[in-house]
Amino acid sequence: MAEDAILGYLSTAEEIPDSGLFASQHCLPHNDVVNVIKSLHGFRYIDAQDIKRESWVLTDEGKKYAADGSPEVQLFLAIPQEGSISKDELQKKLEPSVFKIGCSQAGKNKWVDMGKQVSRKVQHVEDKVKDLLIRVQNGEEIGKDDVSSLKARKLIVAQTWKGYSVRKGPNYAPKRKKVATDLTRENLQRGDWKELEFKEYNFNAKGPPAEAGHLHPLLKVKQQFMNIFLQIGFEEMPTNNFVESSFWNFDALFQPQQHPARDSHDTFFLEAPSTTRELPEDYVQLVKRVHESGGYGSRGYMYDWKREEANKNLLRTHTTAVSARMLYALAKQPFAPKRYFSIDRVFRNESVDRTHLAEFHQIEGLVCDRGLTLGDLIGVLDNFFSRLGMSKLRFKPAYNPYTEPSMEIFSYHEGLKKWVEIGNSGMFRPEMLLPMGFPEDVRVIAWGLSLERPTMILYGIDNIRDLFGHKVDLSLIKRNPICRIGIN
Ligand code: PHE
Repeated sequence: MAEDAILGYLSTAEEIPDSGLFASQHCLPHNDVVNVIKSLHGFRYIDAQDIKRESWVLTDEGKKYAADGSPEVQLFLAIPQEGSISKDELQKKLEPSVFKIGCSQAGKNKWVDMGKQVSRKVQHVEDKVKDLLIRVQNGEEIGKDDVSSLKARKLIVAQTWKGYSVRKGPNYAPKRKKVATDLTRENLQRGDWKELEFKEYNFNAKGPPAEAGHLHPLLKVKQQFMNIFLQIGFEEMPTNNFVESSFWNFDALFQPQQHPARDSHDTFFLEAPSTTRELPEDYVQLVKRVHESGGYGSRGYMYDWKREEANKNLLRTHTTAVSARMLYALAKQPFAPKRYFSIDRVFRNESVDRTHLAEFHQIEGLVCDRGLTLGDLIGVLDNFFSRLGMSKLRFKPAYNPYTEPSMEIFSYHEGLKKWVEIGNSGMFRPEMLLPMGFPEDVRVIAWGLSLERPTMILYGIDNIRDLFGHKVDLSLIKRNPICRIGIN
């Protein structure tokens, strides 16, 4: 509609001087005219020049007075022609704002006598303000003084009106040509490609944004932890086995077979294959002995250790199972000190809530050397956690079947203003290390923490199901910022 009107008009006229006028003459919304002008201009059918005009529009208050009359006139009309009315009476007849403004304006105009009693001073008044507002509403021009008085009373505000003046452009035609964007099979068969005009390639057009992969927050935080471990000389342990035997997950760690954590409440046992195929037999015998009767200065647990229990396959409940395998392999070599770490998934049969899932990731580090002490453990933890920005640490005695002493690690959380538990640590027991074959003075200090907890804190996630599993919002993963821990 608007397009035909503009192109048609220009076929006989030199210029459309004002798109606003043009729109109202042709009964078209000005917005439509502007959009068509922009599009025709883009294809150079027309040339367009900006025009700007300051115009006035009514404020909400202005609109009210244009409809109901100015407050001063409303007030004047509420006063009887003869005699007077008490101020209180008058106030009751009018809206509070109308009464207030009306009193002051009518007083200024010397229309009324204001006292306890109010009376008219003149016979007749004209509502000039209302008339002016209506004229502004209709787009008529009003005098400069009138503009400033309406503006001062906040009844009108300035608005910049934008439009165009339009002339023919270099590609002008009375009708827009439809250009083909594709050469189709039908065009070729019909032979109409000879007459078709094709749209030119736009080499400046932006292509669709390239899709890329995005790292999950857990992977971003994992990478940062890996960087820290690598900075302080740790090697990564191979954790690519979710299925583990009870032997490596528990027995090698001197965890007795009747320990509640081994119970099916906490551990997922495998149905098929339900048992492990092989274990290092010599070592199994040593582990059996240390459980049953101890040795190396220990009394052991004094129970009948069962091979069938050790054979049972499970989903590993902690990555310390991997540490046990690695230490066993290390003990077979001539002794050399080692620093190992791992970050991978573990499984526990726990009821799911906002902070627990049946699977999570553990971060684990260990140092193996002669003569290490609890002081070394505290020093290493201090170094490790301060690289995460946690320099205020506290330790609390704890219990693990495989470490003695054991310590829970707490860090002061500046945001929460309290001490929060961030991990668990200890020195592996001689009952664990000596059957592996380590020299007697070799000590292993180790610690573990979850990857989920720091990730949730860093990314402000308070429900673990928003972080992991089928309810995760993929667009959030795409937008998540990089992780900046451990850069110091
Ligand atoms: N394996 C422990 C856990 O699952 C963590 C830990 C690792 C504790 C190493 C002490 C030493 O919580």
